Amino acid sequence: MSKKKRKALKDIFNGKKRDTLRNKSSSLSSDSFRYEQNHSNKRKKVRIRKRNDGLSRQLKRIKKQVKYNIGTFLQRIAGRENVSNKRDTRHINKNPNAVRRTKRVEPYERHSSYGGYRTSTVYTRRRIARRRRRTIVKIKRIFFIAFVFVTVFLFSFIAYYKPFKTTVVGDVTLRGDVTYKTQIIGVDTKNIKTGTNYAFNVQNVIEDHFNNKVIDNVDKSLITINVTSENLKNKVSVNKNVINIDDSVTSGSVLNMVVSYKKLSKSYSYTIKDNLSEEIDKNMIITNPNEYDAVVNKERHLSSSYKPSDLVKPNIDFMQSNESVMYLRKDAAKALEELCKDAQSSGYKFYGVSGFRSYSLQVDVYKDNIAQYGNEEDANFYSAKPGESEHQLGLSMDLSTKEVNYQLVESLGDTPAGKWLEENCYKYGFIIRFPKDKEKITGYSYEPWHIRYVGKDLAKIIHDNNLTLEEYFESDKY
Ligand code: DAL
Ligand code: ZN
Repeated sequence: MSKKKRKALKDIFNGKKRDTLRNKSSSLSSDSFRYEQNHSNKRKKVRIRKRNDGLSRQLKRIKKQVKYNIGTFLQRIAGRENVSNKRDTRHINKNPNAVRRTKRVEPYERHSSYGGYRTSTVYTRRRIARRRRRTIVKIKRIFFIAFVFVTVFLFSFIAYYKPFKTTVVGDVTLRGDVTYKTQIIGVDTKNIKTGTNYAFNVQNVIEDHFNNKVIDNVDKSLITINVTSENLKNKVSVNKNVINIDDSVTSGSVLNMVVSYKKLSKSYSYTIKDNLSEEIDKNMIITNPNEYDAVVNKERHLSSSYKPSDLVKPNIDFMQSNESVMYLRKDAAKALEELCKDAQSSGYKFYGVSGFRSYSLQVDVYKDNIAQYGNEEDANFYSAKPGESEHQLGLSMDLSTKEVNYQLVESLGDTPAGKWLEENCYKYGFIIRFPKDKEKITGYSYEPWHIRYVGKDLAKIIHDNNLTLEEYFESDKY
């Protein structure tokens, strides 16, 4: 081999230009050798190019995917249109000459991202796969969030309620932390009656988080009851944890008291209210005639022998001189004196007409009324039968004024004095016993002159609520 040939071969192996080789190969040993060299290099280059193309395409695809994912994520945050719409128009952005599509298009209409057309089958398959992947991701997310919630809930539940901790009290097993609470158990009622025992108790309540309750009764001898209503202090008997209100206490009186146990104390307030059905015997004779709230009417009578023991003559002016009807019970007489005095200060002068009337006197009064009205039925609308008159209680007084000629007439109610009496008598413990428009309840005609002493508390309730004595006792509202 000559020196030239050897150099040419060497150049080939050292990568010299193919042109040079081609031009100068004629002097090489064989064509086949040349052919092999050329084609081997070509194949190698194609392989590299293909590989590079594949890589760059893959990179491109990844880049697009990332871009798309970020876009989708931002869209979702902003609450914009859904993902598929965005993807439908993706290729348009790449082609500035393309008409922008805003409508969703069917898969077979779509251009591929790489410029050509894809078959609908391929596209649909990809779309389904994509959707499936997204659904799986969503489900995974939901499961993860649910798992976090359940875990947090369980840990919190266990930490707070301590369900595995137990405390045994007696034969009851309590779970979790227990709380001990001592409480006073009062009488659960608005009104309490006279002459009846009411007990107050104290309990130790042991409670766990799951509402199991164990109640220990405590030593009742440590309970103290203190009556704070000044006017009732001497009328409430307290025996350890039990109270009893004297019969003389009028309905409508308010009993305030404090029940104490060691350092614990609780205030109670009750209104005294008698039960009428318990204060009458089988002969319709009332059993509480000495009480200021005694109810006497056509259904509730007084015995013929009843006469109050504390009758006094009130220091007021009377329109007549028959002293036997000037009396009232002591407290009612005192209250009437105040009423008449204050009325006079206001410019209204009242005269006493008829106060206490004995049973026998009522017999005569009723007879006179029958004679006057012509029959018993009419007479009984204006006058009570013997034993059915409140005047026998010593708690009622008929009043009149000069303005109505000292008569007991309905027109008194229309005069300023009559109006003053209606508006102010409750302040002294009196009520208008037979009000206008309540004839069917009381059984008697309107009597603006007849005032009845019931005590200040009850008089105020009846006045404020526009009631009759019967309505007050029949209702649960007061
Ligand atoms: N005038 C009333 C009703 C009485 O006689 O007692
Ligand atoms: Zn009267």
